[in-house]
Amino acid sequence: MKKISIAIDGPAAAGKSTIAKMVAKNLNYTYIDTGAMYRCVAYYALKNKIAFEDEERISQELKNIEIQMCPDGTIHLNKEDVTSLIRENEVSMGASFVSRYSAVREFLVNKQREMAQGGGVILDGRDIGTVVLKDAELKIYQIASIECRALRRHKENIERGIESDLEAIQQEIAKRDEQDMNREISPLKKADDAIEIDTSDMTLNEVVAHVMNLVLERVQ
Ligand code: DC
Repeated sequence: MKKISIAIDGPAAAGKSTIAKMVAKNLNYTYIDTGAMYRCVAYYALKNKIAFEDEERISQELKNIEIQMCPDGTIHLNKEDVTSLIRENEVSMGASFVSRYSAVREFLVNKQREMAQGGGVILDGRDIGTVVLKDAELKIYQIASIECRALRRHKENIERGIESDLEAIQQEIAKRDEQDMNREISPLKKADDAIEIDTSDMTLNEVVAHVMNLVLERVQ
């Protein structure tokens, strides 16, 4: 079967990575979490006490940032395992902030394209279908209502035993969407040739089945 490239874009906490991982597993494709790469840059800034607002310093430091996405799903930043550290709320907000800088985007987009070479890949993010993989054979724009996204995140936190405030989560998601959709360079938007899937009233398995059908239409 032909190996294609799949792009999944959409707003924060829309369940893109969950779907992307399940589809990648079904197809034996490589999954690339591009949001994790922006999170690594934000985490690096936090750790080195560089303000997210300091574009010049962050841009200069990129040469010292080495990100490794390991096959077992762990993410290493300069050899440190940061897989769970980059999920902290402060890092989410920071990633959304530093992702507006042109040097940061250029640095990470180049890496993403290198990793995606040869196909058989599924990438999720904000600009995959519009910038990173403009020629992807399948582009999905995954959305869900803000209430639904916040509630899912809230339930996830509770299941993991993390303290959670539904109202605060909803506000954070709204702030991130606003930043990601209104930045100057590569803002989040649906590519003209992307297929929109509203997952608000769908189960995980329904979304995966729908995406799998779209893949099969393209590889057969
Ligand atoms: O997908 P995520 O929530 O882990 O992404 C964190 C932030 O990184 C997101 O708010 C905006 C930025 N991002 C981006 O600008 N482009 C991408 N392709 C992926 C993420």
